[in-house]
Amino acid sequence: MHYDDTGVGTPLLLIHGFPHDRSLWQPQLDGMGEDIRVIAPDLRGFGASTEVPDMMTMDAYAADLKELVDELGLQQAVVCGLSMGGYIALAFLANYPEVVHGLILCNTRSGADDEKGRAGRYATAKKARDEGMENIAEGMVPKMITEATATAHPERRAAVKDLMARQRPTAVIAALRGMAARPDRTPMLATIKVPTLIITGSKDELILPEESEAMAAAIPESKLVIIPDVAHLSNVEDPDAFNKVVREFVLGLE
Ligand code: MLT
Repeated sequence: MHYDDTGVGTPLLLIHGFPHDRSLWQPQLDGMGEDIRVIAPDLRGFGASTEVPDMMTMDAYAADLKELVDELGLQQAVVCGLSMGGYIALAFLANYPEVVHGLILCNTRSGADDEKGRAGRYATAKKARDEGMENIAEGMVPKMITEATATAHPERRAAVKDLMARQRPTAVIAALRGMAARPDRTPMLATIKVPTLIITGSKDELILPEESEAMAAAIPESKLVIIPDVAHLSNVEDPDAFNKVVREFVLGLE
């Protein structure tokens, strides 16, 4: 597995979203501080990972991450996922609860796709296969960051678009199939025993803040932070606010 690994201290495993790679977490690799060990892998097929089966379930991604945790010799890690990374973080917690020291769910949800959502996944998969990623990436940018950020920082807009445009259609299709098949994890929320931080952006239109509020209401030991004026990629759009709340949470764990 290809991954970045920086800093020393409590391990923080960062799971990127769709269709991204580990460079999504560059603002955290650069800005989390030296006293937290930040580990950011490429999920199978994305970034520097070239081989991928036809479908990657959230459980399969989680199994890859468990292998990495074992390879690194870690007993536990704080597991943090953004969007699809959050679906995977919940799968990781369901399958390897003993490894999770704390949970951070960013711009994500616990529910499964409905029929319309699944149909959208298959349409996107077809488009990725027929046309490649350029148009999909361009169409997704306005859902990832706010118009205000895109206008004020054209270089950030370009970076977010490139991040998505350069992903392999094979990886994208495998992830779409896996997300379409993912189970509803809502019933497990009430049973979560690890400290949980939920982060979202007030302007996330891809996964509405209401989804985060519902998870926070259902998870007993949870804290919700809604970062103002940012959309889906809250860690990229306001890295200072994001890093601050994550640092406080990680350093505050026993
Ligand atoms: C993501 O950002 O990981 C995806 O947009 C999540 C999704 O499509 O459900």
